Amino acid sequence: CGIVGILGKEAVALPMVDALRRLEYRGYDSAGIATLEDGAITRRRAEGKLRNLENKLDRDPLEGLIGIGHTRWATHGKPTEGNAHPHATSRVAVVHNGIIENFRELREELIAEGARFQSETDTEVIAHLVTRELDRGKMPIEAVHASLRRLRGAFSLGFLFSGEDNLLIGARLGSPLAVGYGEGEMFLGSDAIALAPFTNTIAYLDDGDSVALTRGSATIYDAAFKRVHRTIQKSQASATIVDKGNHRHFMAKEIHEQPEVVSHTLTSFIDMVGETIRLPEDLPFDWKDLNRLTISACGTASFASMIAKYWFERYARLPVEVDIASEFRYREAPLDKGGLSIFVSQSGETADTLAALRYCKEQGQHTLAVVNVPTSTIAREAEVMVRTLAGPEIGVASTKAFTCQLAALAGLAIGAGKARGTLSAAEESELVHALIEAPRLMAEALRLEHEIETFSRDLAKASDVLYLGRGTSYPLSLEGALKLKEISYIHAEGYAAGELKHGPIALIDETMPVVVIAPFDAIFEKTVSNMQEVAARGGRIILITDAKGAEAAAMATLKTIVLPEMPAVVTPIVYSVPIQLLAYHTAVIIGTDVDQPRNLAKSVTVE
Ligand code: G6P
Repeated sequence: CGIVGILGKEAVALPMVDALRRLEYRGYDSAGIATLEDGAITRRRAEGKLRNLENKLDRDPLEGLIGIGHTRWATHGKPTEGNAHPHATSRVAVVHNGIIENFRELREELIAEGARFQSETDTEVIAHLVTRELDRGKMPIEAVHASLRRLRGAFSLGFLFSGEDNLLIGARLGSPLAVGYGEGEMFLGSDAIALAPFTNTIAYLDDGDSVALTRGSATIYDAAFKRVHRTIQKSQASATIVDKGNHRHFMAKEIHEQPEVVSHTLTSFIDMVGETIRLPEDLPFDWKDLNRLTISACGTASFASMIAKYWFERYARLPVEVDIASEFRYREAPLDKGGLSIFVSQSGETADTLAALRYCKEQGQHTLAVVNVPTSTIAREAEVMVRTLAGPEIGVASTKAFTCQLAALAGLAIGAGKARGTLSAAEESELVHALIEAPRLMAEALRLEHEIETFSRDLAKASDVLYLGRGTSYPLSLEGALKLKEISYIHAEGYAAGELKHGPIALIDETMPVVVIAPFDAIFEKTVSNMQEVAARGGRIILITDAKGAEAAAMATLKTIVLPEMPAVVTPIVYSVPIQLLAYHTAVIIGTDVDQPRNLAKSVTVE
């Protein structure tokens, strides 16, 4: 979804639609705007393409000089006009990007106090919360701050108030938001791309910031609601749809975008109100009929697939074979007719993955592709396409595409479990609930960046690094090692922690950093024993875990990165963040070309 807000000198309705058009690349299924007409909040919203909204505005124009607009990707509730943003009461209109985790409690609380809801969305609770504060006599900015204190999740917001024709308020927690400075005009947008037609003078809000805009000023507050300054800069976004924002590299930007793009991906198959999985209904196969699943992919996508194997086997009790596509395509693997093969690819153009897809089709398999580029060859040739909504990934080393692949594959595995009857409704809702929390947990993990950077100084001095993990943390250790070698050129290997004794332990000495990925779960103790084997040989350990794990593992020699505690299903998604940050900062310290590492290509269309 995308957000835009304009405090203008002329009617803002059509310029807002232009800005929303520039956010189309994020994907959307309905759109809407709100302006003030004689001081009163007035909305136009439409299902489907922006053209539908434009047609409405043609028939029924809006004249207001101030407004907010939104393109929506259905999360809570269907993509109908009634669920399209902005959501409003008579006092405030709001546009929202991201997930409000605790909206059900808030909704009940507000309904008990007499609030009348008009939509099925999580967003509408925000409008009612702010209205309640306004009714209690608060000023708009205070009303927004009081409401923000109640919200849990990862999101960004834009507000318009009735009777306030010189005030827009924005807030970000997890999802990006930028302020655009004009001549006697001010703007708010999900990114600089949306604002490029109006201004290239931009300030990016930090996580937790809120901003009050008038035509002549932008007053920014931090997470503690204290006034702060954020650097105003010239944005690079023009005709292009990619921009580094506040970041030095695309890779950093893409790591930080993850709470947003993972929400986006999750919400395409989660029904937030019912906390259930909503898979495409017209599948050409029945999950119940499947005896096994074959997954092929290359590089990072193959590690996402390996993690998915644990999920499909656990939740859907479906045996899974995962192979790297370059091996699979020549192996002449016997496949049952009518079985299902899945292909995972960011670009959708990887030659080996495409060849594996064609092989499976020839064998009479049903084919499902998890892709980030919906127009790609793999997307077109597969029978079923499941989109990851990561947006354009520019950094050659994959980050956000990976976590979005995980989000989509988790959804598929849970959906398969539901269809096969191997998950009860209660288990499904518990898993879905856990997934809903993933974006916020990722935002929390991102806050450890500074600390992780200090650990990277250690890695930057090493010539070899070992990554260890068990369960889904094992493929994640492979991905961690791949990230490090891709961008820092330090040799790294990922290993199943239990395999340590069977070889790599011979490498351990005082010069060898070992990154151990171990959330406090059922197999934590096993990983800790492996870690002790490393410690006993002088190995330098960086343990990525949670508070319970840190306490249980307490060893003097240990450096720990402590993440929040979380359900097992989301650990691979959230633990990806420190893994990526470690590699990124190591490469920055070494001074390599992070976004375009030597010898690598983003999309490999040759064998
Ligand atoms: C290249 C990229 C990797 C990517 C792999 C598979 O090696 O550098 O980042 O994981 O291809 O690409 P795909 O587009 O199929 O996911």
